[in-house]
Amino acid sequence: MKWFGTARFIEAGPAAGEAVPRADASQPAVVFEKVGKTYAGSAQAALAGVDLQVARGEVFGIIGRSGAGKSTLLRLVNGLEKPTSGSVCVNGVDVGALDERGLVALRRRIGMIFQHFNLLSAKTVHDNIALPLKIAGVPKATIEARVNALLDLVGLSERRDAWPARLSGGQKQRVGIARALVHEPDILLCDEATSALDPETTRAILALLRDINRRLGVTIVLITHEMEVIRDVCDTVAVVERGEVVEHGPVWRVFGDPQHEATRALLHSPRHELPDDIAARIQVSPQAGAHALFDVRFTGEAAEEPELAALAQAFGAQGVQFVHGGIERIQGRAQGRIVVSAPARTADEAATLAAQARRYASRVEVLGYV
Ligand SMILES: Nc1ncnc2c1ncn2[C@@H]1O[C@H](COP(=O)(O)OP(=O)(O)OP(=O)(O)O)[C@@H](O)[C@H]1O
Ligand SMILES: [Mg+2]
Repeated sequence: MKWFGTARFIEAGPAAGEAVPRADASQPAVVFEKVGKTYAGSAQAALAGVDLQVARGEVFGIIGRSGAGKSTLLRLVNGLEKPTSGSVCVNGVDVGALDERGLVALRRRIGMIFQHFNLLSAKTVHDNIALPLKIAGVPKATIEARVNALLDLVGLSERRDAWPARLSGGQKQRVGIARALVHEPDILLCDEATSALDPETTRAILALLRDINRRLGVTIVLITHEMEVIRDVCDTVAVVERGEVVEHGPVWRVFGDPQHEATRALLHSPRHELPDDIAARIQVSPQAGAHALFDVRFTGEAAEEPELAALAQAFGAQGVQFVHGGIERIQGRAQGRIVVSAPARTADEAATLAAQARRYASRVEVLGYV
């Protein structure tokens, strides 16, 4: 890891390396094992039976409805919450077993940023970033060097003496990111870090996070309700529903071919639904002179490129129409759905065409007849 192009600084205070070892490349960053969490005084479990691994160096996204348990999951990583059952291991160390001193050391290995930035309004940009280092007893010269390097990293060198109230939302979040990185963490946790920002600022902050992930090798775990954020920056995504992880995997697979109802609901995009005029005309059984409508999916599973000419041929070529839909690329793989209409007099004929077409698409289903 190349932090600021300098050797790592030796810090005073509890040695971070003692209780929580630094990242070991061969080890997952975080391992949840059979994790359950029930808040005191609550009848319902916030999390139940969570088994999950966050690989070292990846950007891991967590999505789910409000109240599903996303923040709880994240807060277990840095010990802000303790699991009621099961274990959470960070860099191979069981977070639940750490004492106060161990937790302090752990939190230096893990940075966190928040939706509302949580900056101290009575401190300048510089002092907000410097504070955690001051508390850790880091020598002044070291603090200056590191704060300057971080200001440079997040593009805020010009605003070092500004007050938070005079910053835009994006600038505030850049301060939040710089502050989260002061201890050169292995892991960065982001809870709705771009939810308060406009789309353009969101993109800039995401680019910064991606850069930090790539250049510094920091593992990032982020919660978002914006599916675009997952598409743009995450390698892996986990879907949380009522305290359980109902689906997880590479973004291209989960988004390309969502298996769980909760995932489909989150991804629900009108673009992929049938247009009203077609929906109004569609019949369940074939009529004379009818065309069958086929739902053709590309899920990127075999990294295949859609061969539309071959697909049209498989549907019988004559009178085949691409009616609706489109294909996009997620992580270099073609994803999408198209609705195809082709002449079919009987259900058997339609089934035969669908079978032929499956050679050129991930899934083909007969939707009905028009
Ligand atoms: N400190 C707490 N004490 C008691 N219950 C809590 C506490 N924090 C969260 N909960 C409950 O645990 C469940 C999960 O909450 P959590 O904050 O993890 O959800 P979330 O997925 O982050 O939701 P949102 O998208 O709204 O932020 C909810 O039912 C919530 O009410
Ligand atoms: Mg939350």
